[in-house]
Amino acid sequence: MYLTKEEEEMLKGEYGYAAQKSMEILVALGKIYDAEKMIEIRSAQISGVSYKSLGDEGLEFIEKLAEDGKVRVPTTLNPCGIDLERWRELGFPEDFAEKQLKVIKAYLKLGIRQTLTCTPYLSGNRPRFGDHIAWSESSAIIYANSVLGARTNREGGPSALAAAIAGRTPLYGLHLDENRRPEIEVKIPKPLSGYEYAALGFLVGRLAGDKIPLFKGIKLISDEELKLLGAALACSGGIPLFHIEGITPEAKLNPKMSASEKYEVGLDEVREVYDELNDDDVEPDLIFIGCPHSSIRELIIFLELLNGRAVKKKTWIFTSRAAKNLGEKLGIIEKLERLGVKVICDTCPIVAPIKDLGIRSIATNSAKGAWFSRNLNGLKVRFMSIEGLVELAVK
Ligand code: F3S
Repeated sequence: MYLTKEEEEMLKGEYGYAAQKSMEILVALGKIYDAEKMIEIRSAQISGVSYKSLGDEGLEFIEKLAEDGKVRVPTTLNPCGIDLERWRELGFPEDFAEKQLKVIKAYLKLGIRQTLTCTPYLSGNRPRFGDHIAWSESSAIIYANSVLGARTNREGGPSALAAAIAGRTPLYGLHLDENRRPEIEVKIPKPLSGYEYAALGFLVGRLAGDKIPLFKGIKLISDEELKLLGAALACSGGIPLFHIEGITPEAKLNPKMSASEKYEVGLDEVREVYDELNDDDVEPDLIFIGCPHSSIRELIIFLELLNGRAVKKKTWIFTSRAAKNLGEKLGIIEKLERLGVKVICDTCPIVAPIKDLGIRSIATNSAKGAWFSRNLNGLKVRFMSIEGLVELAVK
Protein backbone atom coordinates (compact mmCIF):
# COMPACT_ATOMS: atom_id res chain seq x y z
CA MET A 1 0.00 0.00 0.00
CA TYR A 2 1.41 3.39 -0.99
CA LEU A 3 1.97 5.77 1.95
CA THR A 4 3.03 9.41 1.74
CA LYS A 5 6.05 10.63 3.69
CA GLU A 6 3.80 12.06 6.37
CA GLU A 7 1.87 8.80 6.68
CA GLU A 8 5.15 6.84 6.98
CA GLU A 9 6.25 9.21 9.72
CA MET A 10 2.97 8.80 11.58
CA LEU A 11 3.39 5.05 11.36
CA LYS A 12 6.91 5.29 12.76
CA GLY A 13 5.63 7.23 15.77
CA GLU A 14 7.07 10.61 14.84
CA TYR A 15 3.68 12.26 15.45
CA GLY A 16 3.15 10.55 18.80
CA TYR A 17 1.39 7.48 20.16
CA ALA A 18 -2.20 8.25 19.06
CA ALA A 19 -1.24 9.02 15.46
CA GLN A 20 0.92 5.88 15.33
CA LYS A 21 -1.83 3.62 16.71
CA SER A 22 -4.30 5.18 14.31
CA MET A 23 -2.08 4.61 11.28
CA GLU A 24 -1.49 1.01 12.37
CA ILE A 25 -5.26 0.41 12.42
CA LEU A 26 -5.76 2.12 9.05
CA VAL A 27 -2.86 0.36 7.32
CA ALA A 28 -4.10 -3.01 8.62
CA LEU A 29 -7.57 -2.22 7.23
CA GLY A 30 -6.11 -1.04 3.93
CA LYS A 31 -4.17 -4.28 3.54
CA ILE A 32 -7.24 -6.42 4.27
CA TYR A 33 -9.24 -4.59 1.60
CA ASP A 34 -6.38 -4.17 -0.90
CA ALA A 35 -6.44 -0.37 -0.80
CA GLU A 36 -3.85 1.26 -3.04
CA LYS A 37 -3.46 4.31 -0.83
CA MET A 38 -5.08 6.54 1.79
CA ILE A 39 -7.52 9.31 1.03
CA GLU A 40 -8.01 12.47 3.09
CA ILE A 41 -11.39 12.77 4.80
CA ARG A 42 -13.52 15.81 5.61
CA SER A 43 -15.27 14.58 8.73
CA ALA A 44 -15.72 11.69 11.12
CA GLN A 45 -18.57 10.39 13.28
CA ILE A 46 -17.62 8.18 16.20
CA SER A 47 -19.82 5.43 17.62
CA GLY A 48 -18.95 3.40 20.70
CA VAL A 49 -19.60 6.23 23.12
CA SER A 50 -21.85 4.58 25.69
CA TYR A 51 -20.01 3.13 28.65
CA LYS A 52 -22.51 0.26 28.35
CA SER A 53 -20.85 -0.89 25.13
CA LEU A 54 -17.29 0.30 25.87
CA GLY A 55 -16.70 -0.99 29.38
CA ASP A 56 -13.44 -0.24 31.22
CA GLU A 57 -11.27 -1.58 28.42
CA GLY A 58 -12.80 0.78 25.86
CA LEU A 59 -12.52 3.71 28.25
CA GLU A 60 -8.81 3.00 28.82
CA PHE A 61 -8.20 2.77 25.05
CA ILE A 62 -9.70 6.23 24.47
CA GLU A 63 -7.96 7.77 27.49
CA LYS A 64 -4.62 6.46 26.23
CA LEU A 65 -5.19 7.97 22.78
CA ALA A 66 -6.23 11.25 24.38
CA GLU A 67 -2.88 11.55 26.18
CA ASP A 68 -1.20 12.96 23.06
CA GLY A 69 -3.81 12.68 20.28
CA LYS A 70 -6.01 15.26 18.51
CA VAL A 71 -8.44 14.79 15.67
CA ARG A 72 -7.48 16.45 12.37
CA VAL A 73 -11.00 16.85 10.93
CA PRO A 74 -14.38 17.97 12.32
CA THR A 75 -15.53 14.99 14.36
CA THR A 76 -18.83 14.32 16.11
CA LEU A 77 -20.01 11.78 18.68
CA ASN A 78 -22.79 9.21 18.66
CA PRO A 79 -25.21 9.04 21.64
CA CYS A 80 -23.80 8.04 25.02
CA GLY A 81 -25.56 6.18 27.83
CA ILE A 82 -27.10 9.13 29.73
CA ASP A 83 -28.77 12.49 29.24
CA LEU A 84 -25.98 14.75 30.48
CA GLU A 85 -28.40 17.20 32.09
CA ARG A 86 -31.22 14.94 33.31
CA TRP A 87 -29.64 11.61 34.24
CA ARG A 88 -30.30 12.03 37.98
CA GLU A 89 -33.90 13.08 37.48
CA LEU A 90 -34.48 10.11 35.14
CA GLY A 91 -32.94 7.66 37.61
CA PHE A 92 -29.77 6.61 35.78
CA PRO A 93 -27.36 4.82 38.15
CA GLU A 94 -24.68 7.07 39.70
CA ASP A 95 -21.72 4.69 39.11
CA PHE A 96 -22.68 4.28 35.42
CA ALA A 97 -22.95 8.05 34.95
CA GLU A 98 -19.55 8.57 36.56
CA LYS A 99 -17.86 6.22 34.07
CA GLN A 100 -19.84 7.71 31.20
CA LEU A 101 -18.64 11.21 32.03
CA LYS A 102 -15.04 9.97 31.95
CA VAL A 103 -15.58 8.61 28.44
CA ILE A 104 -16.93 11.97 27.25
CA LYS A 105 -14.03 13.81 28.89
CA ALA A 106 -11.50 11.67 26.99
CA TYR A 107 -13.29 12.26 23.68
CA LEU A 108 -13.40 16.01 24.31
CA LYS A 109 -9.67 15.99 25.07
CA LEU A 110 -9.18 14.50 21.60
CA GLY A 111 -10.90 17.59 20.17
CA ILE A 112 -14.19 15.86 19.30
CA ARG A 113 -17.45 17.82 19.45
CA GLN A 114 -19.93 16.78 22.12
CA THR A 115 -22.86 16.33 19.73
CA LEU A 116 -23.92 12.94 21.15
CA THR A 117 -26.37 12.19 18.38
CA CYS A 118 -26.82 9.63 15.61
CA THR A 119 -28.09 12.43 13.34
CA PRO A 120 -24.87 14.46 13.06
CA TYR A 121 -26.11 15.64 9.65
CA LEU A 122 -28.77 17.64 11.55
CA SER A 123 -26.26 18.92 14.09
CA GLY A 124 -23.65 20.76 12.06
CA ASN A 125 -21.78 17.80 10.57
CA ARG A 126 -23.49 17.61 7.18
CA PRO A 127 -21.16 16.42 4.42
CA ARG A 128 -21.53 17.61 0.86
CA PHE A 129 -22.07 15.46 -2.21
CA GLY A 130 -18.90 13.51 -3.02
CA ASP A 131 -17.12 14.24 0.28
CA HIS A 132 -14.98 11.39 1.59
CA ILE A 133 -15.74 10.84 5.26
CA ALA A 134 -15.21 8.13 7.88
CA TRP A 135 -18.38 7.54 9.82
CA SER A 136 -19.48 4.85 12.18
CA GLU A 137 -23.13 4.30 13.30
CA SER A 138 -25.01 2.37 10.65
CA SER A 139 -28.04 4.70 10.43
CA ALA A 140 -25.83 7.77 9.94
CA ILE A 141 -23.61 5.99 7.41
CA ILE A 142 -26.51 4.96 5.21
CA TYR A 143 -28.04 8.45 5.40
CA ALA A 144 -24.73 10.14 4.50
CA ASN A 145 -24.08 7.79 1.57
CA SER A 146 -27.61 7.63 0.20
CA VAL A 147 -29.34 10.92 0.95
CA LEU A 148 -26.33 13.25 0.90
CA GLY A 149 -24.16 11.39 -1.62
CA ALA A 150 -21.10 11.51 0.65
CA ARG A 151 -18.73 8.53 0.70
CA THR A 152 -18.04 6.38 3.71
CA ASN A 153 -17.50 2.73 4.41
CA ARG A 154 -19.26 1.10 7.34
CA GLU A 155 -16.64 2.06 9.89
CA GLY A 156 -16.55 0.71 13.39
CA GLY A 157 -15.91 3.05 16.35
CA PRO A 158 -12.11 2.37 16.46
CA SER A 159 -11.51 2.73 12.71
CA ALA A 160 -13.56 5.96 12.53
CA LEU A 161 -11.60 7.33 15.49
CA ALA A 162 -8.31 6.29 13.88
CA ALA A 163 -9.37 8.03 10.65
CA ALA A 164 -10.30 11.18 12.58
CA ILE A 165 -6.89 11.30 14.28
CA ALA A 166 -4.94 10.53 11.10
CA GLY A 167 -7.24 12.67 8.92
CA ARG A 168 -7.46 9.91 6.30
CA THR A 169 -8.86 6.48 5.55
CA PRO A 170 -7.85 3.69 3.16
CA LEU A 171 -9.27 4.14 -0.33
CA TYR A 172 -11.54 1.15 -0.93
CA GLY A 173 -15.18 0.08 -0.89
CA LEU A 174 -17.76 2.87 -1.06
CA HIS A 175 -15.11 5.54 -1.65
CA LEU A 176 -14.89 4.18 -5.21
CA ASP A 177 -17.50 4.77 -7.96
CA GLU A 178 -17.62 1.15 -9.06
CA ASN A 179 -18.76 -0.06 -5.64
CA ARG A 180 -21.70 2.34 -5.36
CA ARG A 181 -23.86 0.86 -8.11
CA PRO A 182 -27.17 -0.83 -7.23
CA GLU A 183 -27.15 -4.60 -7.04
CA ILE A 184 -30.87 -5.26 -6.72
CA GLU A 185 -33.99 -3.40 -7.80
CA VAL A 186 -36.97 -3.28 -5.48
CA LYS A 187 -40.29 -2.13 -6.89
CA ILE A 188 -42.87 -0.73 -4.49
CA PRO A 189 -46.44 -1.23 -5.71
CA LYS A 190 -48.03 1.72 -3.90
CA PRO A 191 -46.78 4.79 -2.03
CA LEU A 192 -46.08 4.15 1.64
CA SER A 193 -45.93 6.56 4.55
CA GLY A 194 -44.35 7.01 7.96
CA TYR A 195 -43.42 3.84 9.80
CA GLU A 196 -44.35 1.76 6.74
CA TYR A 197 -40.98 2.85 5.37
CA ALA A 198 -39.32 1.45 8.49
CA ALA A 199 -41.11 -1.86 7.86
CA LEU A 200 -40.09 -1.77 4.19
CA GLY A 201 -36.46 -1.15 5.16
CA PHE A 202 -36.53 -4.02 7.62
CA LEU A 203 -37.95 -6.35 4.97
CA VAL A 204 -35.58 -5.31 2.19
CA GLY A 205 -32.57 -5.40 4.51
CA ARG A 206 -33.28 -9.05 5.12
CA LEU A 207 -33.88 -9.72 1.46
CA ALA A 208 -30.80 -7.90 0.20
CA GLY A 209 -28.25 -8.80 2.89
CA ASP A 210 -25.54 -6.26 2.14
CA LYS A 211 -26.40 -5.66 -1.52
CA ILE A 212 -27.14 -2.08 -2.56
CA PRO A 213 -30.84 -1.67 -3.41
CA LEU A 214 -32.39 0.66 -5.95
CA PHE A 215 -36.00 1.45 -5.03
CA LYS A 216 -38.50 2.13 -7.78
CA GLY A 217 -42.05 3.40 -7.37
CA ILE A 218 -41.40 5.88 -4.53
CA LYS A 219 -42.55 9.28 -5.75
CA LEU A 220 -42.36 11.31 -2.57
CA ILE A 221 -40.59 10.60 0.70
CA SER A 222 -39.84 12.93 3.61
CA ASP A 223 -36.48 13.32 5.30
CA GLU A 224 -37.89 11.63 8.40
CA GLU A 225 -39.08 8.65 6.33
CA LEU A 226 -35.66 8.40 4.68
CA LYS A 227 -34.14 8.26 8.16
CA LEU A 228 -36.47 5.42 9.26
CA LEU A 229 -36.01 3.52 6.00
CA GLY A 230 -32.22 3.75 6.12
CA ALA A 231 -31.92 2.80 9.79
CA ALA A 232 -34.05 -0.31 9.19
CA LEU A 233 -32.13 -1.33 6.03
CA ALA A 234 -28.86 -1.08 7.92
CA CYS A 235 -30.29 -2.97 10.89
CA SER A 236 -31.77 -6.13 9.36
CA GLY A 237 -29.18 -6.22 6.57
CA GLY A 238 -25.71 -4.74 6.48
CA ILE A 239 -26.67 -2.18 3.86
CA PRO A 240 -24.57 1.01 3.79
CA LEU A 241 -26.16 2.69 0.75
CA PHE A 242 -29.45 2.73 -1.15
CA HIS A 243 -30.75 4.61 -4.13
CA ILE A 244 -34.28 5.77 -4.93
CA GLU A 245 -35.11 6.40 -8.57
CA GLY A 246 -35.54 10.11 -9.20
CA ILE A 247 -34.97 11.07 -5.56
CA THR A 248 -31.53 10.28 -4.08
CA PRO A 249 -28.65 12.28 -5.62
CA GLU A 250 -26.73 9.53 -7.39
CA ALA A 251 -29.94 8.08 -8.87
CA LYS A 252 -30.91 11.56 -10.07
CA LEU A 253 -27.53 11.99 -11.75
CA ASN A 254 -27.90 8.65 -13.43
CA PRO A 255 -31.55 8.19 -14.50
CA LYS A 256 -30.69 4.95 -16.32
CA MET A 257 -29.48 3.32 -13.10
CA SER A 258 -30.62 -0.31 -12.89
CA ALA A 259 -29.74 -3.76 -11.55
CA SER A 260 -30.33 -7.19 -13.05
CA GLU A 261 -31.75 -8.79 -9.88
CA LYS A 262 -35.34 -7.54 -9.50
CA TYR A 263 -37.98 -7.88 -6.79
CA GLU A 264 -41.45 -6.54 -6.31
CA VAL A 265 -42.45 -6.08 -2.70
CA GLY A 266 -46.14 -6.57 -1.89
CA LEU A 267 -48.00 -4.75 0.83
CA ASP A 268 -48.77 -8.07 2.52
CA GLU A 269 -45.07 -8.70 2.95
CA VAL A 270 -44.57 -5.23 4.45
CA ARG A 271 -47.44 -5.96 6.86
CA GLU A 272 -45.82 -9.21 7.95
CA VAL A 273 -43.08 -7.08 9.49
CA TYR A 274 -45.69 -5.50 11.80
CA ASP A 275 -46.61 -8.95 13.08
CA GLU A 276 -42.99 -9.92 13.50
CA LEU A 277 -42.11 -6.78 15.47
CA ASN A 278 -45.16 -6.88 17.73
CA ASP A 279 -45.13 -9.14 20.77
CA ASP A 280 -48.55 -10.27 21.94
CA ASP A 281 -50.33 -8.60 24.87
CA VAL A 282 -47.74 -5.94 25.63
CA GLU A 283 -48.63 -2.91 27.71
CA PRO A 284 -45.48 -0.86 27.12
CA ASP A 285 -43.58 0.61 30.09
CA LEU A 286 -42.12 3.19 27.72
CA ILE A 287 -43.37 4.72 24.48
CA PHE A 288 -40.70 6.41 22.43
CA ILE A 289 -39.81 7.97 19.10
CA GLY A 290 -36.34 9.10 18.10
CA CYS A 291 -34.43 6.13 16.70
CA PRO A 292 -32.64 7.67 14.82
CA HIS A 293 -32.86 10.86 16.87
CA SER A 294 -35.93 12.96 16.15
CA SER A 295 -35.70 16.01 13.94
CA ILE A 296 -37.37 19.29 14.92
CA ARG A 297 -40.17 18.36 12.52
CA GLU A 298 -40.86 15.10 14.37
CA LEU A 299 -41.07 17.02 17.66
CA ILE A 300 -43.65 19.32 16.08
CA ILE A 301 -45.62 16.40 14.59
CA PHE A 302 -45.76 14.67 17.98
CA LEU A 303 -47.01 17.85 19.64
CA GLU A 304 -49.64 18.38 16.96
CA LEU A 305 -50.88 14.80 17.25
CA LEU A 306 -51.24 15.22 21.02
CA ASN A 307 -53.50 18.17 20.32
CA GLY A 308 -53.44 19.36 23.94
CA ARG A 309 -53.95 15.90 25.51
CA ALA A 310 -51.59 14.88 28.32
CA VAL A 311 -49.85 11.51 28.16
CA LYS A 312 -50.78 8.90 30.76
CA LYS A 313 -47.86 6.56 30.08
CA LYS A 314 -44.12 7.16 30.24
CA THR A 315 -43.42 8.82 26.87
CA TRP A 316 -39.97 9.92 25.76
CA ILE A 317 -38.69 11.57 22.62
CA PHE A 318 -35.00 11.02 21.93
CA THR A 319 -33.40 13.86 20.04
CA SER A 320 -30.19 15.79 19.55
CA ARG A 321 -29.20 18.70 21.78
CA ALA A 322 -29.27 20.89 18.64
CA ALA A 323 -32.92 19.98 17.88
CA LYS A 324 -33.90 20.39 21.53
CA ASN A 325 -32.30 23.84 21.70
CA LEU A 326 -34.20 24.88 18.61
CA GLY A 327 -37.40 23.37 20.05
CA GLU A 328 -36.86 25.39 23.22
CA LYS A 329 -36.56 28.61 21.24
CA LEU A 330 -39.78 27.77 19.41
CA GLY A 331 -41.62 26.91 22.66
CA ILE A 332 -42.22 23.29 21.54
CA ILE A 333 -40.28 21.59 24.32
CA GLU A 334 -42.13 23.44 27.05
CA LYS A 335 -45.47 22.44 25.52
CA LEU A 336 -44.44 18.79 25.17
CA GLU A 337 -43.12 18.62 28.73
CA ARG A 338 -46.26 20.29 30.07
CA LEU A 339 -48.24 17.44 28.50
CA GLY A 340 -45.98 14.93 30.27
CA VAL A 341 -43.62 14.01 27.40
CA LYS A 342 -39.93 13.95 28.30
CA VAL A 343 -37.53 15.17 25.64
CA ILE A 344 -34.26 13.30 26.16
CA CYS A 345 -30.89 14.21 24.64
CA ASP A 346 -27.38 12.79 24.38
CA THR A 347 -28.49 9.17 24.67
CA CYS A 348 -30.65 6.61 22.92
CA PRO A 349 -33.10 3.89 23.89
CA ILE A 350 -30.66 1.16 22.96
CA VAL A 351 -27.34 2.31 24.42
CA ALA A 352 -28.81 3.65 27.67
CA PRO A 353 -28.99 1.14 30.55
CA ILE A 354 -32.75 1.02 30.04
CA LYS A 355 -33.40 -2.06 32.18
CA ASP A 356 -31.85 -0.33 35.21
CA LEU A 357 -34.71 2.17 34.89
CA GLY A 358 -37.26 -0.63 35.38
CA ILE A 359 -38.33 -0.71 31.72
CA ARG A 360 -39.30 -4.17 30.45
CA SER A 361 -41.38 -3.31 27.37
CA ILE A 362 -41.50 -0.54 24.79
CA ALA A 363 -43.53 0.75 21.87
CA THR A 364 -41.93 2.65 19.00
CA ASN A 365 -42.31 3.61 15.33
CA SER A 366 -38.71 2.56 14.59
CA ALA A 367 -38.09 -0.94 13.22
CA LYS A 368 -34.47 -0.61 14.31
CA GLY A 369 -35.53 0.53 17.78
CA ALA A 370 -37.97 -2.38 18.13
CA TRP A 371 -35.53 -4.98 16.85
CA PHE A 372 -32.62 -3.89 19.05
CA SER A 373 -34.84 -3.39 22.09
CA ARG A 374 -35.90 -6.99 21.77
CA ASN A 375 -32.65 -8.61 20.66
CA LEU A 376 -30.06 -6.55 22.51
CA ASN A 377 -31.94 -5.35 25.56
CA GLY A 378 -34.32 -8.30 26.00
CA LEU A 379 -37.49 -6.16 26.09
CA LYS A 380 -40.99 -6.93 24.85
CA VAL A 381 -41.84 -4.69 21.91
CA ARG A 382 -44.61 -3.05 19.94
CA PHE A 383 -44.03 -1.44 16.58
CA MET A 384 -46.61 1.04 15.30
CA SER A 385 -47.19 4.37 13.60
CA ILE A 386 -46.47 7.67 15.34
CA GLU A 387 -50.26 8.27 15.38
CA GLY A 388 -50.76 4.91 17.10
CA LEU A 389 -48.07 5.74 19.67
CA VAL A 390 -49.73 9.02 20.55
CA GLU A 391 -53.14 7.36 21.02
CA LEU A 392 -51.54 4.68 23.18
CA ALA A 393 -49.77 7.33 25.25
CA VAL A 394 -52.91 9.32 26.04
CA LYS A 395 -55.19 6.33 26.64
FE1 F3S B 1 -29.64 6.25 17.03
FE2 F3S B 1 -29.61 4.64 19.06
FE3 F3S B 1 -31.34 4.26 17.17
S1 F3S B 1 -27.85 5.45 18.05
S2 F3S B 1 -30.32 4.95 15.35
S3 F3S B 1 -31.24 6.04 18.52
S4 F3S B 1 -30.17 2.67 18.19
